[in-house]
Amino acid sequence: MPERKLFATKYGHFSADGREYVITDPRTPRPWINVISNGDYGLTFSQAGSGYSWRTHAQLNRLTRWEQDLLRDDWGKYIYITDESGHCWSAGWKPVAAEPSDYRCRHGFGYSAIESRNFGIRSVLTVFVPNDDPCEVWKLELKNTSRRTRRLRLTTYLEWCLGVAPDWHREFHRTFIETEFDRKAHAILARKRLWEIPTARGHWNTEWKYVAFHGCSLAPQSFDTDKETFLGGSLRQPDGVKRPTLARSTGKWLDPIASLRAEVVLRPGEERVVCFTLGAADSLQEAQKVAKKYHSPKAADEALDAVRKRWENLLGTVAVSTPDPALDLMVNLWLKYQAISGRLWGRTAYYQTGGAFGFRDQLQDSQVFLPIDPLRTREQILLHSRHQFKDGSVYHWWHPITEVGLHNNMSDNLLWLPFVVANYLAETGDDAILQERQPFVDDVTGMTLFDHCHRAIDRVWGRRSPRGLPLIGAGDWNDGLSAVGLDMKGESVWLGHFLHRILLDFADIALRVGDRTRSVEYRGRASVLRGVLNQEGWDGEWYWRATKDSGEKLGSRENKEGKIYLNAQTWAVIADVADEVRGKQAMDAVEKYLEHKAGPILLAPAYKAPDANIGYLSRYAPGARENGGVYTHAATWAVLAAAKIGRGDMAYRLFSKINPIIRGKKPDEYYAEPYVTPGNIDGPDSPCYGRGGWTWYTGSAAWLFRVALEGLLGIRPTAEGLMVDPCIKPSWKGFSVRRMFRGALYNITVKNPRRATSGVAALEIDGVPAEMKFRGRGVVLPKFPPETEHSIVVTMAERKH
Ligand code: GLC
Repeated sequence: MPERKLFATKYGHFSADGREYVITDPRTPRPWINVISNGDYGLTFSQAGSGYSWRTHAQLNRLTRWEQDLLRDDWGKYIYITDESGHCWSAGWKPVAAEPSDYRCRHGFGYSAIESRNFGIRSVLTVFVPNDDPCEVWKLELKNTSRRTRRLRLTTYLEWCLGVAPDWHREFHRTFIETEFDRKAHAILARKRLWEIPTARGHWNTEWKYVAFHGCSLAPQSFDTDKETFLGGSLRQPDGVKRPTLARSTGKWLDPIASLRAEVVLRPGEERVVCFTLGAADSLQEAQKVAKKYHSPKAADEALDAVRKRWENLLGTVAVSTPDPALDLMVNLWLKYQAISGRLWGRTAYYQTGGAFGFRDQLQDSQVFLPIDPLRTREQILLHSRHQFKDGSVYHWWHPITEVGLHNNMSDNLLWLPFVVANYLAETGDDAILQERQPFVDDVTGMTLFDHCHRAIDRVWGRRSPRGLPLIGAGDWNDGLSAVGLDMKGESVWLGHFLHRILLDFADIALRVGDRTRSVEYRGRASVLRGVLNQEGWDGEWYWRATKDSGEKLGSRENKEGKIYLNAQTWAVIADVADEVRGKQAMDAVEKYLEHKAGPILLAPAYKAPDANIGYLSRYAPGARENGGVYTHAATWAVLAAAKIGRGDMAYRLFSKINPIIRGKKPDEYYAEPYVTPGNIDGPDSPCYGRGGWTWYTGSAAWLFRVALEGLLGIRPTAEGLMVDPCIKPSWKGFSVRRMFRGALYNITVKNPRRATSGVAALEIDGVPAEMKFRGRGVVLPKFPPETEHSIVVTMAERKH
């Protein structure tokens, strides 16, 4: 039966169940990759078969060499296949890039596979990372579809990095790497006697603490670890691949690589599986053990099954069904996968090497776990709280492994701690987390998480301008506004909105846990701040964004460029700073000045020339990234704000415009993968208007998931209970959501017989009409005992509130 293809373009389509993206032409406009990780070990894999591998940290602990060259995309870990007549091809596509008679690359959850047929040999190369081993497995299935016996030589190739990437001092670093061949393990082993990380006895003075291995399920016929003997001519046609045996050289002082040769004879119709491994173990024994484990293709199959199960569990906890299959696909599967595998576990992708934890970044990402497995959000919160200083400031980012971090004067990053804590509490009711004692970076005794949060809030509150607006410092959420307020005079209206939200939320939290004084204090501050924001921050038709140290405004009608900024409007609504009238005015301005075909841009018009008193934002090409592009992360907030003021059509339209499946319908304009969100899409001031970039490594994935679920569909956790408050396209006849909340399973069906945008008219719980507890437009559902399952039917109708 022919496979049903979803959202097909000339480059590929989703599989019928949406669980795979199938690329049918290897010449995609940019590398279309997968980021595969088990939370510690990981790899990237492009449709060409290129990519890199790491353990724990994609930058400090890269196993294999890779250079950021998205046009060539020819760094990777490759398998060359040659046959008895001298034909040569790759089991992926590169580096040989022969013309296969068939080609499909399937990116799935936790694995990718390239299937192709070359010269009568069908091959399927499946690459994955087992759940609990520090390695990857390349399972290669071969089938002889020709009528004669075939003698195949398989030759693998990768270049060792073993440490910090990229290793541009290769001539220095290669001299510290040693390789050997372990006959019993069928594996090349590699170690490095130097690691470029600081230690108590100085820099560059410690061993790379792992043993790397590259093994094969068959006993290799030969091997090589010397790039010089192996490579000869070119990566496309290396000398080694042409030779009957590899040079068998190992040792020190080489330019170290790993290449294994295995030989396979296939009669007509015969099939064979060969598995290769690559990994970084903690010891020699572990390296040998893991390499040997995957001598058995059965062990590989079991490990791959376990990977599939793990992802099914993670992705299956929340499920929506709406009239829009593109929304369902992203919300049910791909956004969650991107946020977890790419942003939280891998923390790396082709456009950004990453590896570190961004204080605000992974905290926001960890919100994806709230409806799935909130204990993981809890861990992330506590981890970040330990990267705060006792004055309330935080590391902007820090590196796991070395714990080296950047402590700067960014003004918002610390506030994401209380922000995410408040959301975590709404989801779980786990007030006990507030009493968890956590150290500060500069004080091991530490304080409770509640105090950590207050220190953040109080610090931002304490840094206000004479008229009471928060100071922007070295930048706020917008990293690119990096020089607006370095003299600690410039102000941020957006930061004011953000702080207002947190003050309100923490006033409630404080009251609930019995801290009346603080609750009153925070409520008072919120009201003062709201007054100043509306008095000073309103520009006539929208909120301006910031002032420079000089007092000059950004995002105001007074400006020629950067007249209006998105975040200052969306957050005025999200944070309840704007009243109803102003909220609508602000969102009208978004519609009028910022919304374009690819979504709402971050500011308009773009800056045409660098301004040293704005910062690097103004140095980007006009229309690129923060300088007037659609910055997807911020664009998701526009969906939330539109839903909040009851504009169902607008909310859905904005969601769809930034939905990568929709953008990806024109791949030669959009360029980027259609199954994950991009960090940005070029705006109208760019010659490449509509082009997506910076895919995978973007905070937009977790947020787009959240705004769909909580903004559009309106199913959101509150301290009182799970709220149902849809704001949809009136033509939708309804939708359903299955979701856990506080241990109970809610099967929610929303019916919309009267073409409403929002509003709830009737509620049925487990088949019985139930009393409605209204909160604004929506209703709050009761809390049920853990491990019970309930069916909820909500009927919508417009109502006055
Ligand atoms: C980058 C940063 C993120 C920041 C955003 C906007 O994505 O990682 O922290 O908020 O840019 O500048």
